[in-house]
Amino acid sequence: MPKTILVTGSSGLIGSEAVEHFDRQDHRVIGVDNNMRRVFFGPAGDTLWNLERLKATTKRFTHMAFDIRDRPAIEELFRMHRFDLIVHCAAQPSHDKARDIPLLDFEVNLGGGRENSISMLEAIERIEQMTGRKLDWRYAEEARRGDHICYISNLGKFQSHYPKWKITRGLDAILEEMVASERGRHAAVHSR
Ligand SMILES: NC(=O)c1ccc[n+]([C@@H]2O[C@H](COP(=O)([O-])OP(=O)(O)OC[C@H]3O[C@@H](n4cnc5c(N)ncnc54)[C@H](O)[C@@H]3O)[C@@H](O)[C@H]2O)c1
Repeated sequence: MPKTILVTGSSGLIGSEAVEHFDRQDHRVIGVDNNMRRVFFGPAGDTLWNLERLKATTKRFTHMAFDIRDRPAIEELFRMHRFDLIVHCAAQPSHDKARDIPLLDFEVNLGGGRENSISMLEAIERIEQMTGRKLDWRYAEEARRGDHICYISNLGKFQSHYPKWKITRGLDAILEEMVASERGRHAAVHSR
């Protein structure tokens, strides 16, 4: 029986594949994509060509060009449709890019929005402005040691949620695996 499927990021690499896949199976696919990829990566990231391709090749695909951070638009979409499946692919996909645009990356990838998202340094500045008082703070380059309560020095809460959970791999093993993987990647790139 045909289903109604929502694909966010429908003009992107993974989203467009999902659209084609489900359209081929005669499901009704609604795609949400505002071509934000062009904002992230400039003209080379423009996805309109892919949208046009989908429009030309699919049978039951409908596209909506709004921003997934637009909460009223999303709420309206969910009022209008009862989705059987949601494939959420709208995202800022590049780790390197995230370093250059941390706030925008957070807004799109973690939700929230500019109205309720702020970096720690911005929050300090804002609170100082609001209270008229200088906060007592300092930025330390060295990593914190041993004072994280949850997840580091006291695993009790986590353990109570997941009673069967136990540590199976130590930190060194995890880091060694990451280093080995990076060395392998590096070697592969330089042997080309
Ligand atoms: N491509 C891969 O190999 C791969 C592998 C593993 C995981 N992923 C993850 O899958 C997701 C999608 O990756 P992708 O490669 O298809 O990325 P992509 O950049 O090709 O597609 C993302 C799409 O989302 C749209 N978009 C971004 N922000 C939006 C917003 N605020 N509102 C509406 N649309 C928005 C963009 O315009 C773009 O078309 C990402 O989370 C990525 O990290 C990708």
